[in-house]
Amino acid sequence: MNAANDPATPPELFTWEFATDPYPAYAWLREHAPVHRTRLPSGVEAWLVTRYADAKQALADQRLSKNPAHHDEPAHAKGKTGIPGERKAELMTHLLNIDPPDHTRLRRLVSKAFTPRRVAEFAPRVQELTDRLIDGFATKGEADLIHEFAFPLPIYAICDMLGVPAEDQDDFRDWAGQMIRHGGGPRGGVARAVKRMRAYLVDLIHRKRGDLGDDLISGLIRASDHGEHLTENEAAAMAFILLFAGFETTVNLIGNGTYALLRNPAERARLQASLAAGETDLLATGVEELLRYDGPVELATWRFATEPLTVGGQRIEAGDPVLVVLAAADRDPARFDDPDTLDLGRRDNQHLGYGHGIHYCLGAPLARLEGQAALATLLTRLPDLRLAAEPDELRWRGGLIMRGLRTLPVAFTPES
Ligand code: HEM
Repeated sequence: MNAANDPATPPELFTWEFATDPYPAYAWLREHAPVHRTRLPSGVEAWLVTRYADAKQALADQRLSKNPAHHDEPAHAKGKTGIPGERKAELMTHLLNIDPPDHTRLRRLVSKAFTPRRVAEFAPRVQELTDRLIDGFATKGEADLIHEFAFPLPIYAICDMLGVPAEDQDDFRDWAGQMIRHGGGPRGGVARAVKRMRAYLVDLIHRKRGDLGDDLISGLIRASDHGEHLTENEAAAMAFILLFAGFETTVNLIGNGTYALLRNPAERARLQASLAAGETDLLATGVEELLRYDGPVELATWRFATEPLTVGGQRIEAGDPVLVVLAAADRDPARFDDPDTLDLGRRDNQHLGYGHGIHYCLGAPLARLEGQAALATLLTRLPDLRLAAEPDELRWRGGLIMRGLRTLPVAFTPES
């Protein structure tokens, strides 16, 4: 019997096979151990929550704090767990590491600057960036879509939106590359890249203070000038989290999304026909479905119990870390019909790919804009796009929170 359906044997998690296809293991957990205590590769023990209903409840439960100070880890292990925020004190004040009332105040301030309207106005710029990047490889007949497309698009988009001058954006591309290559913990190359990015942002905020413009950093500074206050440290941490939260996620939306379409030719043909007819409905529901089917964020970011509580019938003690497995919840047959089938027209699709509750993704409108522009333009300009590697040759980037491909080699008829 396959280990994935033997009720007595929990599947091995965090192996190479698991990174390639975690869904059989998640099906086992949902079925046999929906709130499951496991030892993570870093050595930390944490609860994995895999059923949709439990996941939604846990994401909204205020007794599960985002502040790593609530982690019940022996002091000597602190800072060695890879839990973000344990060592980078100066970046601690960002949204994903704090609870109300601080979270409420900061989120309100950033929401004043990072509005759906600002994102909508940015649509032509995203389209321009998308076309420029595709121009870079369209005549070659082959490309690695991660390196040449999915990776640079979000970094240039968010840099533009923040107001990072064009001549400095390649530095961000390098720093982001170091962060993504090393993945995970706050050591070595990642720590250096984070430090440089932060120093740059602090300096940029200083410069912008004297010369406010239309960009998002100016918006963050202005929001702080209306009675409520954003300290410079908070503004830098906010700009950093916008970059950090909006970068690898969107890389993976474009990468995983394109890959899923290439592996589901009937759905891909359906989308191409709809785009050719000038429709946008299927594109919109399709991007949501790709988020559900193989979303960028496999596990929501860390939560820690501030008091004992019960999730899915399982008692969790104060101080215990809890990881909500969005990728497992979004394939729960108790919530979604035919959850392992990609259906771009799926209607009843309240997936958890952007989280739920007060930490629901702030950048969802920008992510949707980028995801839709990227996939529509790619399939329209390179209509016979195909995988140039066998699926089992592809490597997935290891890391706890994110799920994404390292490379995505494709071939197509070159544009003349
Ligand atoms: C929060 C997913 C793109 C900014 C989150 C959360 C998820 C998520 C699951 C909640 C995490 C938790 O509760 O632990 C995604 C996905 C994206 C994406 C799948 C792309 C497809 C973006 C973009 C930005 C962004 C483009 C900004 C430019 C944020 C911020 C938070 C957040 C600031 C924290 C919100 C808070 O704590 O109040 N995102 N995200 N995200 N996201 Fe996104």
